[in-house]
Amino acid sequence: MDIAKMDEFAKKKGFFWPSSEIYGGFTGFYDYGSNGTLLKRKFENAWRKYFLGLNDNFFEIEPSDIMHEKVFAASGHVEGFVDPVAKCSKCGTQHRADHILEDFLHESFEGLTPDELKKIIVEKNVRCPSCKGELKDVYVLNMMFPVDVGGNKKGFLRPETAQGPYVNFGRHFNLLRNRLPLGLSVIGKAFRNEISPRNLTTRTREFTQAELQIFFDPIQIEDHPQWNEVKNYRLLLHPVTKRDQKPVEMKCADAMSEMKLPKFYLWHMAKVQQFYLDVLGVPKSKFRFKELSEEERAFYNKLHWDIELDLPSLGGFREVGGVHYRTDHDLLGHQKTSNKSQEIFFNGKRFIPHVLELSFGVDRNVYGLIELNYEEEGDRAVLHLPPAVAPFQVAVFPLVNKDGLDKVAKEIFVGLKKKFDVVFDQSGSIGKMYYREDERGTFYCITVDYETKSKKSVTVRDRDSKKQVRVKVKDLEKNLERLLAGEMKFEKSGTAIKPSKPRKK
Ligand code: GAP
Repeated sequence: MDIAKMDEFAKKKGFFWPSSEIYGGFTGFYDYGSNGTLLKRKFENAWRKYFLGLNDNFFEIEPSDIMHEKVFAASGHVEGFVDPVAKCSKCGTQHRADHILEDFLHESFEGLTPDELKKIIVEKNVRCPSCKGELKDVYVLNMMFPVDVGGNKKGFLRPETAQGPYVNFGRHFNLLRNRLPLGLSVIGKAFRNEISPRNLTTRTREFTQAELQIFFDPIQIEDHPQWNEVKNYRLLLHPVTKRDQKPVEMKCADAMSEMKLPKFYLWHMAKVQQFYLDVLGVPKSKFRFKELSEEERAFYNKLHWDIELDLPSLGGFREVGGVHYRTDHDLLGHQKTSNKSQEIFFNGKRFIPHVLELSFGVDRNVYGLIELNYEEEGDRAVLHLPPAVAPFQVAVFPLVNKDGLDKVAKEIFVGLKKKFDVVFDQSGSIGKMYYREDERGTFYCITVDYETKSKKSVTVRDRDSKKQVRVKVKDLEKNLERLLAGEMKFEKSGTAIKPSKPRKK
């Protein structure tokens, strides 16, 4: 899939398209359609169930999107959350300086200073992509959106969800009976005034993050109570020292001894990788952790490995999240700026907890799931989404809208709705309805036909194999449950139906 095809597919099939489209779109903002919203919610639900399930002291909270300007002065965003910009001396357009170099020279320039970027721009004679004018000035711009609140107070739209848990940490530590590790997660919007939004929903000015802030005692970084579970688990790593090579597969225990990564950090990396491979069904070859160098790391991180998926439409492996060891950077900043102690008393000592952050861009992951599961079959497409994220699990159709078949189909649909994510359709030929479901990844299509009335059975069609079986209506719910849980083979769920021979002309 290339990006033009993704754009077309996403628009045509109800996933996403530019915001304010009837006014020509609004750069950097996207709207999700009905299928896209369902897929996004499914991803969020799968994320929530999995990551909050890692520890009984992990909880979700909902802090506000607009926060006091002092929050971001304390976190370092007012000063440090900047992007390098190159301004064209002819047309005045501002471009992300590292991105135009990346497009021109096909390598990464992340983390270079404006002076370093300017030097390369001049040396390589890189020109304005819009008008070929000279790029004379290279400087930094802050990416936060300031908000004038009530006429006399300043706030910012949060550029990351993380600061909500930080400013609410003390209250939660007390509320949740003074236990560490404590996890506070937020699934919500973040806003960044990106200089060059691009690549559809993967670099926008308003996007959704799913982030988990894990507060822990810093001496615990070298250990994890469930270390034995992961010590032989093989991580897919792309270290700084091996950038020109394929990712290496390395046991957690070896990554600890050879790469000096702490156990607490590695345990969480293993859990992140298992989420992608086991829950989202991402093939091993399409996943890796990329280590960031000191210059590339976010200003608040001591350890920083990006989570990357191989997305050819975007040019190869691209960041969709990160595992960040933020130390006490944020709580210390809030203590200094607010004059409110962020220290806790735990295990007989007083200290400021450290933070391990698991950070995910929901929109990039949704984009990745579409691309990784998209397959063309002739002139149509199938999304081979895993059960955890497919917008619908089951679709129900009547063969024809007469002789009471539509009524029976509706009854079956209503019955199944209590257990599954089901959609009802009666708006076209069976073939067309199958295609429509394939395109949004629906697992099983149930057709109510004349035998349903006479023999109390329906046909069930499998999305991936296209095989069909006849199943007794009374067994339908139980069989679907087992099929979706991976406990039953499709062929065993009913009597096989031979594919009908093409009619002679
Ligand atoms: N709290 C840490 C943090 O915000 P980040 O690497 O700046 O870290 C986390 O962002 C994730 O948010 C990224 O890995 C990416 O998936 C997503 N993200 C960041 N900027 C984005 C943008 N402009 N558009 C869409 N997603 C974005």
